[in-house]
Amino acid sequence: MGAESPLAGLPLLEDLPPLEGARVLVRTDYNVPLDERDGQRWVADDFRIRASLETLGWLQARGARVTVCSHLGRPDGAFDPRWTMEPVARRLHELCPQVELLENLRFDPGEKADAPEFVDRLVAGFDAYVNEAFGVAHRAHGSVVGPPRRLPSAAGRLLAREVEVLGGLLRQPKRPFVVVLGGAKVADKIGVVRSLAAVADVIAVGGAMAFTFLAALGRQVGSSIVDPEHLEECRALLVEQEAPILLPSDVVALEPGGRALGAGVPGVSDTKVLGPHIPDGWQGLDIGPDTASAFEEAIASAKTLFWNGPLGAFEDPRFAEGTRRIAQAVAACPGHTVVGGGDSVRAIDRLGVAERIDFVSTGGGASLALLEHGDLPALAALRGAPNAPSAYRS
Ligand code: 3PG
Repeated sequence: MGAESPLAGLPLLEDLPPLEGARVLVRTDYNVPLDERDGQRWVADDFRIRASLETLGWLQARGARVTVCSHLGRPDGAFDPRWTMEPVARRLHELCPQVELLENLRFDPGEKADAPEFVDRLVAGFDAYVNEAFGVAHRAHGSVVGPPRRLPSAAGRLLAREVEVLGGLLRQPKRPFVVVLGGAKVADKIGVVRSLAAVADVIAVGGAMAFTFLAALGRQVGSSIVDPEHLEECRALLVEQEAPILLPSDVVALEPGGRALGAGVPGVSDTKVLGPHIPDGWQGLDIGPDTASAFEEAIASAKTLFWNGPLGAFEDPRFAEGTRRIAQAVAACPGHTVVGGGDSVRAIDRLGVAERIDFVSTGGGASLALLEHGDLPALAALRGAPNAPSAYRS
């Protein structure tokens, strides 16, 4: 990928027509965790709401009348009281009183289908559109890709920053560029491994997804999770393309027939550090101490660092040590550090090290999709807006 700015062709807030008295529709990603107290639902983490405030304030300071819209959860195209935006509206109005918040976009089947009538209704009466919803920028949904076909549009400050930082990782990163990937499903991450293999110096792979790579090399992985459909692709990446992938040499494993338990429930089975081969019946659920040391060493050497996904089943304290060590190492890394994705963000929050990370992405799937494809449906739509820099309009 060339060195052209990742923002090339995107209309920014300054590219909007005059805003005094204008009605502006802002698409945000307020898909936030909720909890229940006193029979009411509350926002449990307002990170995504706070992240949108700069753009809302910027628009208001220029005289715009701002209406915000978002999805929450995955309701199936019909009203569902569990997913009303009401708790989000309460928190938003504490932080930014003068904006209106529409009801959950996914209560209408037209949102997911990008139905033209839905988009027409959504934009009716508005003069401009701003996309501030990086977390959903990988979905070609009506409120994401529809409005730029109809209204002068812009990327909000947060969306632009996400694109600049994550897109920047693919374009001449400072080296060594070290990537740490974890998580359960190799199917969700293999595309991003393939794409980053062309640009990263080291890709340290942990989490359950590592076992498909280990099995592809012919290692014994016991009862650890392996995705047979992706074995050949993992083998090709490791052996034919010689991708710079660093795999676990030891793991913390659960005894045959043992149970990994959820958050707060004490474990009842035996665990052991095993490796490199895992005997029959044992299930690897965290990286082992030698692997954590090797990953820490790679992280300490990084001038650019990207981390996504937990290194083990960290809800169970017996399998949380790998993720804890990696979070600490990322926080201590002197290079430019970027963390994306819900679970890794939760891990750094829990350890209180978030402010030591240079950039924490608001997107999970979206950050991976941008690294895999170098572009997203939301960005392509904005580049096609009537007020976009003309060389990029299709
Ligand atoms: C997220 O939380 O990752 C985004 O809001 C996207 O949500 P979705 O996976 O339900 O589309």
